[in-house]
Amino acid sequence: MFRNNLDVKILSVVMVALFIGFGTITIIQIDKESKDMLEQNQIKVKLLATSIEKSIQNYMIEGRVDLIRRLLADIRNSKEVERLEIIKRDGMLAFTDFNTIETVLKKSEEFKFVKERERPANFLDGNDPFLSYYFKGIFETGKNISYYEKDEDRDLLTLLQPLINQRECQRCHGSDHNIRGILRISTSMKGVNEAIRSNRNRVIIISLITIILVGLVLEFLIRRVILRPVDGLVETMAKVENGDLTARVDVNVDDELGKMGRSFNSMIMKLEAANKKLAAQHHLLMERTEKMASLGQLASGIAHEINNPLAGMFNCVKAMHSDGDDKGLREKYLGLIDKGLKRVEIIVKQLLGFAKEHKLEFSPNMMDDIILDTIRLVEYKMKKENVYLRLDLNCNTHEYLIDYHHMQQVILNIVINAIQAMPDGGILSIRSVDLEKHIMLSISDTGIGITKENLSKIFDPFFTTKDVGVGSGLGLSVSYGIIEKLDGKIDVLSEVNKGTTFKITIPKREVETDMQIKESI
Ligand SMILES: Nc1ncnc2c1ncn2[C@@H]1O[C@H](COP(=O)(O)OP(=O)(O)O)[C@@H](O)[C@H]1O
Ligand SMILES: [Mg+2]
Repeated sequence: MFRNNLDVKILSVVMVALFIGFGTITIIQIDKESKDMLEQNQIKVKLLATSIEKSIQNYMIEGRVDLIRRLLADIRNSKEVERLEIIKRDGMLAFTDFNTIETVLKKSEEFKFVKERERPANFLDGNDPFLSYYFKGIFETGKNISYYEKDEDRDLLTLLQPLINQRECQRCHGSDHNIRGILRISTSMKGVNEAIRSNRNRVIIISLITIILVGLVLEFLIRRVILRPVDGLVETMAKVENGDLTARVDVNVDDELGKMGRSFNSMIMKLEAANKKLAAQHHLLMERTEKMASLGQLASGIAHEINNPLAGMFNCVKAMHSDGDDKGLREKYLGLIDKGLKRVEIIVKQLLGFAKEHKLEFSPNMMDDIILDTIRLVEYKMKKENVYLRLDLNCNTHEYLIDYHHMQQVILNIVINAIQAMPDGGILSIRSVDLEKHIMLSISDTGIGITKENLSKIFDPFFTTKDVGVGSGLGLSVSYGIIEKLDGKIDVLSEVNKGTTFKITIPKREVETDMQIKESI
């Protein structure tokens, strides 16, 4: 049920608050209801006492003491009344026999004697100090007293009610005392206590059910209003942490969580933009570094390429100095010098073209021309390393939109890698195929090959197995980036000590089609 800590924490706080709140209300409620029930019980007992008093009075006036005894016996027999006594001023029990008043009067002397002898207890003799004290109080004040008696086998409410010497009573009893005696009535508290207990249990159960229901509703609301957005935020943060900067928080509320989500989104957006900028700059830097490394590899070859025509031209100039008058020879030498200069110009142009930074730009080109131009840059190196070239070029009939400089950079890096992989010479095969929707290029060598372990790393930036100064580890990573930008694919197949083949496919971009697209835009 509880998925995360926040859930438990919030719910715990709410539940504690609910328990304290409802608990206090429940305790107050139970207390009040219990007091009310006790009060009701007291009123009931007082009513009973008053009606007994009235009945006694009436029966006395009618001279029916027997009826009084019957009444008292009947009430004593009722379940709720545990004790019912009428105590006279002298502390003795009244109405303990079944005689009528006449008989009482007749036998009064005899009765007194018997009673005197058997006199069991006098409520005023101090055996029960509390009772004596209460009785004295009542005789003095004329007010009733009620108290609880509670021990192991008794749980009683006892009321001591003074029996007032009314005018009607004074006829027989005289007017010496205001109070004739005391009615002591004790009722069992069992029923009341039972009712209080069951009421308390009922209130507690209702409170608990309410707390649980409120808790469940709150849990539901907390999930909807707080946890769902927080979960969304946490999920997005995790995605961002794993490098997905395109992740966004779903914000559809205006509260603090909504604000948090929005500022988080804008933070990732800024981060994404900065990251893109950084990646672009990084890529540019890598391309530049890789180019410089390639140029380093080509330097000696280029020097040699320029040196050859220079040496030829130098010889021509020398010859012209000695045979300057021969017009025919001069024409011939000038022609040779012109050819030499053109050769140097082409090489320098190519070199500058390669060294320069280029934006991604498509222009009509034939793939085979790019391959041949690139080969020219490494001719000397191949010769030096005893590498023989095998060409199978089939893309020289149709121009497509190709990014010349970037394509050249890719081919050159793969070719340099191939030459470096054949230190004892070998064969470099280059094949180009014009497929239905793609141009395919494969560059193979018969070199040292790549181990399985390294095969997965060769496109990583700065991965190199070459010595410092020989390899920068950037060539393939930059080439991969370029081919990806051209929407193409680059694959590699290699076997140790047999050789390696790089296969590149790029989508064909028709010259006319592109023009049409541009026009339509
Ligand atoms: N034709 C190949 N034959 C063998 N290994 C190769 C070949 N091409 C690339 N590699 C391996 O891939 C690594 C990375 O190549 P690259 O990114 O061009 O960096 P560098 O050439 O500067 O080392 C090389 O160091 C080499 O181990
Ligand atoms: Mg390389």
